[in-house]
Formats: sequence, C-alpha cells, structure tokens
Amino acid sequence: MKLIVIVGTRPEAIKMAPVLQRLREEPGWRTLLCATAQHRQMLDQALGLFGITPDIDLDLMRPDQTMNALSARVFAALDPVLESEKPDWLLVQGDTTTAMCAALAAFHRRVRVGHVEAGLRTGDFGHPFPEEMNRRVVDLAADALFVPTRRAAAALEAEDVPSAKVYLTGNTVVDALLAIAGRDGPAAEEDLVLITAHRRESFGKPLESVVQAIGRLARAFPKTRFVHVIHPNPNVAPVVRRNADIPNVTLVEPLDYLELVRLMRRACLILTDSGGIQEEAPTFGKPVLVLREKTERPEGIEAGLAALVGTDEERIVARASALLSDPAARRAMTGRLNPYGDGLASERIAAVLAGRPFAPFVPPA
Ligand code: UD1
Repeated sequence: MKLIVIVGTRPEAIKMAPVLQRLREEPGWRTLLCATAQHRQMLDQALGLFGITPDIDLDLMRPDQTMNALSARVFAALDPVLESEKPDWLLVQGDTTTAMCAALAAFHRRVRVGHVEAGLRTGDFGHPFPEEMNRRVVDLAADALFVPTRRAAAALEAEDVPSAKVYLTGNTVVDALLAIAGRDGPAAEEDLVLITAHRRESFGKPLESVVQAIGRLARAFPKTRFVHVIHPNPNVAPVVRRNADIPNVTLVEPLDYLELVRLMRRACLILTDSGGIQEEAPTFGKPVLVLREKTERPEGIEAGLAALVGTDEERIVARASALLSDPAARRAMTGRLNPYGDGLASERIAAVLAGRPFAPFVPPA
C-alpha cells in the first residue's frame, strides 16, 4: 500500500507528525510526506522538531500570498505527483487551503482521501474564514473521516455522511503534545499570560482591539508578564508590535513547538484564537480565553475549561482581569480530563487504514 500525507502549515505538521510516524511502522506500506510549504519557516521548524523531512517539497509559499494564487499553485503542483505516484490514499489534516486543494486534487484523480480532524463546524462561513468552507469541502471529498469528538461525528451525521466512513479517533494533537511534553521535566507555573492571535476574520479592527486589550491588561497588572507570540502574516505582526514599548509585554517571533509547549506549562492564563492551543491547554490544566466570536471546539467551553470572549476590548479586559486577580477562579477552570483526545488517535487511524478492528476514542464523562 502507498500513502501520501500532505502538510502545508505549522498546525498540519504538528498534527500529522504522529500519524506519519505511526503509518511508517506498518510493514509493507510506503508512506510519503508531501509538503506544499504553504508556510515555509513555520513548517520547517515544526517538522524539524519531530525529525521529519518531506519526501516531496512543492515549496509553494510566496510572501503575502492570496488564497486563490496559492490554491492554483497547489492544484498545479500536486497533480503530477498524484499522476506519477498513484497512491492508494492521500491524507490531509484540518481546514487550510492546502488541505482543501489537496483533497479536491485527489478526488479528481480518484485517489481515496482520509481527513484527519473531520467534522468540525461552527455553522458560519464567515467564522472562521475561510476554514469553515475548506473543511466542508474536504469532508465532502473524503472516503475516511477521522473525527476528534462525538460532536464532530454528530455534525457529519446531520450532513448525511454515511456513518461507515466516520471514525471517532480523538485529536492527533494530543498524540503530538504527549510526545513533545515527554522530552521536558515538569514546569512550575509563573505569573505569565500567553497570547496568540492570527485568524483572518480578525484582521483589521478585531485584532487591533485585542492588542489594545493586552496593552491595558499589562498596565493594570504590572507584575504579570504578557508573552505575545507573533504570527509572521503581514496583516498580524505590525499590529502586535504596537505593545512593544510596554515593559511587561514580551513580543516573541514564532516559537518552535517545544518552546510553545514550555510556555503553555509556565503560563497561568492563555488568551488565544488558535484551535490547537484550545485542544492542548486542558492537558496542562491551563484556563483559556478564546479570542473568537465562534468556535468549532465547544467541548472545552462546556467542560468549563475555556470561555469564549471574542475580540471586544472591554470584554477581554473584564474577563482576563477577573481571572488574573483571582487564583480560585482560574483553578475552577482546570482539573478535568482533556475532552479532545487520549494520545492514541494515530494508532486508531493506522488501524482503520489497515482494516484492523477499531476501538473508538471514549471521551471523558
Ligand atoms: C494559515 C491557515 C490557517 C491556519 C494558519 C496557522 C489558510 C487559509 N489559513 O493561515 O487556517 O490557522 O495558517 O498558522 O490556509 N508567512 C511567512 N512564513 C511562514 C508562514 C507564513 O512568512 O512560515 C507569511 C507569508 O507572508 C504568507 C502569510 O504569512 O503569505 C500568510 O500565510 P498563509 O498560510 O496564507 O495564511 P495564515 O494566516 O498563516
């Protein structure tokens, strides 16, 4: 059997690394890693940490790329790969431009598609944009849909996806996280707030108001360190740099995953619009304020481990201040098991593809 695993951006690399490593243990299988390199530096950094190099590197990133130009390059560059390699399966992860185009390209070539992290939905094509469209397109094209949670499975059922194609595996991010966290000793918690924000639907006013809110919080809590990790997208970095002169704000260039995990473990509070961090924080018992209007990951919110605060400056300042001034309020948002996975998702995906008996992920009650 021959498989191609596709990655384009940093989160795809992190969430696919354990899958790739597990598939390569299957005797008689050949699993190629193909990078679109929609992200260049951040992808290489993430793959490097897992000691992985692409077998095929399409090297498609251009500075300040548009989604349409990138899409055109993915279709054009991937087609000859599919034609010459003739894989039995092509695996994509998540909801990026890379995942959407690769899934369609495989569909056009009648190559079976496996979707890792299928079934996430907000029901709103504007939030997140363009990811809600991308993941629906991938799910339509997919022959095997690996869902992280029961809610994701239910979303697919509501869209009439045959249940025989849907497998409850848990999210592979927990596999990756446990592998990486295992390289480090325990980390003591500090008076530190970790911040990340990069979503397209937040470009402009919403991101400006997030950055304003961080500035106000930093002035109100001068003993607390606010570490804001910058995303290299040109719509993001210049806005974030507006807080550069505040003494207790530290702006850092994209961290490798190991360093980011270290910071998560040191933080007492996390403010983020990242999906991956929402999924990772419960493993370390860290409260999360989600800087988005909608989330496709309500499980953490329902379990009381995260709260949806959006991008409104006043709301962010109010919710974060309440948590920063009250350790008991922060503790109340911790202590439950991670609802997103148990570290065995890659094992389950390999079992499905190999046609072995499959024991689904059982989410914590
Ligand atoms: C993409 C994904 C988003 C995902 C995010 C993770 C799409 C439509 N969006 O958004 O779902 O959450 O990645 O980070 O697929 N850049 C660099 N070096 C890098 C990475 C990016 O310089 O290593 C700059 C480039 O100028 C690039 C720009 O960032 O043009 C935007 O990258 P792109 O992948 O198009 O969008 P993201 O905002 O990163």
